[in-house]
Amino acid sequence: MNKPKTYHITTFGCQMNEHDSETIAGMLSQMGFCESPQRDEADVVIINTCSVRENADKRFFGTLGQLKKKKLADPEFTVCVCGCMMQQQHIIDSIKTKYPWVDIIFGTHNIHQFPQLLESVISEKEKIVDVWEDGGEIVEGLPAKRLYKHKAFVNIMYGCNNFCTYCIVPYTRGRERSRRPLDIIDEVKLLVADGVREVTLLGQNVNSYRGDEKTDFADLIYRLNEVEGLERIRFMTSHPKDLSDKLIQAYVDCNKLCNYIHLPVQSGSSPVLARMNRKYTKEDYLELIAKLRKAVPDITISTDIIVGFPGETEADFEETLDLVGRVRYDSAFTFLYSIRKGTPAEEYEDQIPEDVKHQRFNRLVETVNSISAEKNAAYVGKVEKVLVEGVSKTSAQRYTGRTEGFKLINFPGTPKLAGKIVDVKVTEGKTFSLEGEVL
Ligand code: SAH
Ligand code: SF4
Ligand code: F3S
Repeated sequence: MNKPKTYHITTFGCQMNEHDSETIAGMLSQMGFCESPQRDEADVVIINTCSVRENADKRFFGTLGQLKKKKLADPEFTVCVCGCMMQQQHIIDSIKTKYPWVDIIFGTHNIHQFPQLLESVISEKEKIVDVWEDGGEIVEGLPAKRLYKHKAFVNIMYGCNNFCTYCIVPYTRGRERSRRPLDIIDEVKLLVADGVREVTLLGQNVNSYRGDEKTDFADLIYRLNEVEGLERIRFMTSHPKDLSDKLIQAYVDCNKLCNYIHLPVQSGSSPVLARMNRKYTKEDYLELIAKLRKAVPDITISTDIIVGFPGETEADFEETLDLVGRVRYDSAFTFLYSIRKGTPAEEYEDQIPEDVKHQRFNRLVETVNSISAEKNAAYVGKVEKVLVEGVSKTSAQRYTGRTEGFKLINFPGTPKLAGKIVDVKVTEGKTFSLEGEVL
């Protein structure tokens, strides 16, 4: 009997990419492939790339370099690259010249075609570059091999129309397209029937979702809240300019919508926000936070912040520190501004010197972390509802899960807890996680 062919996927970037990789894995399973835990032992390797910052680009080329030896020794070994980087012609050009042995290059808009591309490369032994400039009709019904048993990602919309001046995503993911509400609801019902208890609705800017004339993002939440057996709803990511009062009310009315929001602010300086094309001011943002906290007092809030955007002065940066001190985020992802080819900010004067960027970055991280630690310490003694994911990465005796507010919590447990929502008493608050015991 022939051994089944194997694949390995390496994924860079955001949850969109993680979910795309789940789809690619699902299609490969349908083709009869098995997953290989080791990249070096797989017959087919797929690298799903991210382009959001320069270090993501660098890591991709590093990974590709590691595959060269095996490819040259074994021509049957198939190397496929996809994802956001492939939507940029200059990247395709450099792969063709520096890594001509790559077999398939495809993009973010034609993932559904991957099985045909792979079959044709295996049978014809010809290399393929197939990247679409923009997304056509949304393709429904693709399989997915999920990363987690009890929680799932569900795409509700694709693309981004915001064109923040630093960001490559609108160029790599195309214009906004929303899925039909019924397609989403049917998918969620199927997931629940398969043991899923929590869904994360995905989109670059979920609150500009428009399913049909009657269904905006808040309406979709209300409808999903009715799905029997589903316990938790989350979403990623929302843009402050589109955070409606109706969505804030949905937190109050929909018991399944977790009291957590990731609301990227990017900067605390209104002039910098204007140059970033974010369409809100520092004051607008603080007002939104106040409204959210008034409606949902225990909401946890996280954010993204960019340090060193072109023209950012010391005073601008201090505005960011001031905003962080006022909002007191539960956690924040902090990034050094990275020039992206083809974005408006690439042309901006006053790029900030690396040493200044790093120095500001360190100050910001210190502020953010000390607030996270204080916030987490205040949870000690509280009882939190936790969806248990399984054994913790650090120890087989420790179990891990997320609170409703998306805090990572570790505790002693047993295998039968996996997939259950249990009460856990918090015993310790660390900077990035909590410790606890199951009641
Ligand atoms: N659609 C999401 C975020 C997508 S990218 C949203 O708008 O919320 C994730 C984060 O990467 C952004 O929020 C931003 O903080 C950061 N980012 C994007 N482009 C960047 C760049 N050129 N340099 C540094 N950070 C960047
Ligand atoms: Fe990028 Fe802005 Fe769109 Fe987010 S909203 S993906 S930061 S352009
Ligand atoms: Fe990266 Fe593309 Fe996501 S650029 S952050 S993988 S949308």
